[in-house]
Amino acid sequence: MIYVLGSINADMVVYSDRFPEVGETLVGSDFLLNQGGKGANQAIAAQKAGGGTEFIGRVGDDYFGEFVLKNLKDAGVSLRVKRDKGTFTGIALINVNGKGENKIIIIHGANGNVGDEEINYLESHVKSGDIFMIQGEIDPRVLEKSAKNAFEKGAIVIFDPAPVSEELKSVIKYSTFVTPNEVEIRSLTGFSGKEGIESLFSLGAKNVIVKKGEKGVCYYGEKGEFVLPAFKVKSVDTTGAGDTFNGAFAAAISENFPLKEALIFAEAAAAISVTRNGASISAPKRSEIEAFLNSHSF
Ligand code: RIB
Repeated sequence: MIYVLGSINADMVVYSDRFPEVGETLVGSDFLLNQGGKGANQAIAAQKAGGGTEFIGRVGDDYFGEFVLKNLKDAGVSLRVKRDKGTFTGIALINVNGKGENKIIIIHGANGNVGDEEINYLESHVKSGDIFMIQGEIDPRVLEKSAKNAFEKGAIVIFDPAPVSEELKSVIKYSTFVTPNEVEIRSLTGFSGKEGIESLFSLGAKNVIVKKGEKGVCYYGEKGEFVLPAFKVKSVDTTGAGDTFNGAFAAAISENFPLKEALIFAEAAAAISVTRNGASISAPKRSEIEAFLNSHSF
């Protein structure tokens, strides 16, 4: 089983040719309201890529709570989600420019209430051989405790340290795979390049997968070091591409794909997702990933 503990948001996305300057009002080209949140996105991507997935998180008792859960249900993800009274569902305000790049501000809302109930639930469910996925959008104390429990039981812990905060450093030692991008490595460690990777290992990392977008993926860890290029596609919206990557990677690892194949499978899923608008609604189904892999090479 793939357990995903994390955030779920209502993403309000505005598209514009370029990002506005400070103090500037810009006329955009389109608007999209869709479900997001790194946790929920990863759960949906994993399920669509073929993994049996359960999502653990919280929404508010507002309109958005029902709206965002629909996507998880439609994808077939099992849910252990509490609806907190008097709280609003997590929100993300997103601006996507003409190159498909994004700027995101999140407000935690109900995601900020994920706590001891979820820790206890996971302690009694996650077992050796399961996959446990986490990101940086819930309380770091909850991440650390639940990752420690899962890791010590022999589960495979996949940790996406985004958005970065100092407290996330203590989660790294309980992670089988850490999946930052280059900016996150610099914010987490104060270093870039090889020094940044070494710094992650000194914090207890076992395997580091650096997500470099259109430059591909670099791996450092128990299987050595290697670089994989990215598939070339025309990007329209990169929102959630890293989440799709992680979800598809988890699905492949749950089927015991060799590491390189799992990473290529994840890259294919992410490549498809950036050719479509939205977060988890852009994550491809298993059949689409397989068709893409049959028709594309680096
Ligand atoms: O990774 C993309 C996600 O980050 C968005 O869906 C947004 O909700 C934020 O969590």
